[in-house]
Amino acid sequence: MDSVPRPSAASSSSQRRANDLREFTFGELEAATRGFSGDMMIGEGGFGCVYRGVVRVSDFDDGNCSGSNMDVAVKQLNSNGIQARLFFPVPLSMYIWVYEQGHKEWINEVNFLGVVKHPNLVKLVGYCAKDEKSGIHRLLVYELMHNKSLEDHLFIREVSPLSWMARLRIAQDAARGLAHLHEETDLQIIFRDLNTSNILLDENFNAKLSDFGLARLGPAAGGSHISTSWVVGTAGYAAPEYIQTGRLTAKSDVWSFGVVLYELITGRRAVEKNMPRNEQKLLDWVRPYVSDSRKFHHIVDPRLEGQYCIKSAQKLAALANKCLTKNAKSRPKMSEVVEMLGKIISETSSENDSAPQHAKETQGKETKGKKEETEKSIRCINCRNWTCR
Ligand SMILES: Nc1ncnc2c1ncn2[C@@H]1O[C@H](COP(=O)(O)OP(=O)(O)O)[C@@H](O)[C@H]1O
Ligand SMILES: [Mg+2]
Repeated sequence: MDSVPRPSAASSSSQRRANDLREFTFGELEAATRGFSGDMMIGEGGFGCVYRGVVRVSDFDDGNCSGSNMDVAVKQLNSNGIQARLFFPVPLSMYIWVYEQGHKEWINEVNFLGVVKHPNLVKLVGYCAKDEKSGIHRLLVYELMHNKSLEDHLFIREVSPLSWMARLRIAQDAARGLAHLHEETDLQIIFRDLNTSNILLDENFNAKLSDFGLARLGPAAGGSHISTSWVVGTAGYAAPEYIQTGRLTAKSDVWSFGVVLYELITGRRAVEKNMPRNEQKLLDWVRPYVSDSRKFHHIVDPRLEGQYCIKSAQKLAALANKCLTKNAKSRPKMSEVVEMLGKIISETSSENDSAPQHAKETQGKETKGKKEETEKSIRCINCRNWTCR
């Protein structure tokens, strides 16, 4: 069995703590997920499949050993390992190398998530690393995020759409998670794979970043970047300078965050293969609409059914553009992004607060064309557009 790496990376004196991860047996996780049954599968990524499950956790806090059940998500490394994350197909001859990369990702997650704790980073509960007759087992056990991923809510038709305000709050939560990694740990951490499938939502729609498989420590003091030999991540999210040179900085995450902001505004994926050619790349598609305020509403997610504040959406697009500045150094720091989002949220909610008064004025006036009248009644007083819900 591989020893689980010491939580050295990313630890600071204040954060350096005993690794309190629990080691699970494969049998325990097999039982927790009903034998990794298809019914229990809740996700799939480049690493492998993710299953819902229930484990028994002990609580030794007061010297008494009591136990309780905990809902968890169990991620199982499959033999395809890293394959889906690379920007090129991997030939069969590289199979072992690929598995090793998957294994490295597994170690990376334990290394980072075992140490770095924050309300906007998903909690790693434990792991399983056993080499048995039945095979080599590498699994990770996380707190279960009941509302799954942002990807599910934005792009899966069966899942109810997110309100405008929920989108803003999710953006702010994700920004806080990134700001913590970039600016609040002694050694900077670059996430490297920010995308909507790695932003998970708990039962109250609080957002947390997950999937630290590709995370890297930032440059040492005085260094400007990390040189990488493989460009990895998810297509459509990687910063141009990283793709061109392999040079990685925290500002690469800021670019990816800008892409996520446009996904929140439009309800479209960074890359939409099934769209006409000129609409496939989100950033290319939005460009002409963003520069013309009369056309802007054309790009806003139709699933919002007009229930958003156009000014708020334009401010969010302006922030996205800052994150998507070609010159990486000119992009804002994530703590600045958190601050700007806070401002957008408070402005949006104060506009929202003033809306009901206007709504009252029009209440009861509608006779025919009821739907249209109801929509008018929630028009925002300040920005003269549909209200911010
Ligand atoms: N803790 C969790 N709670 C709920 N769903 C999860 C959890 N972790 C992962 N998932 C689901 O599984 C998907 C893939 O997980 P992820 O950690 O991103 O794996 P990969 O490394 O393979 O990309 C996520 O997009 C999400 O839908
Ligand atoms: Mg993922």
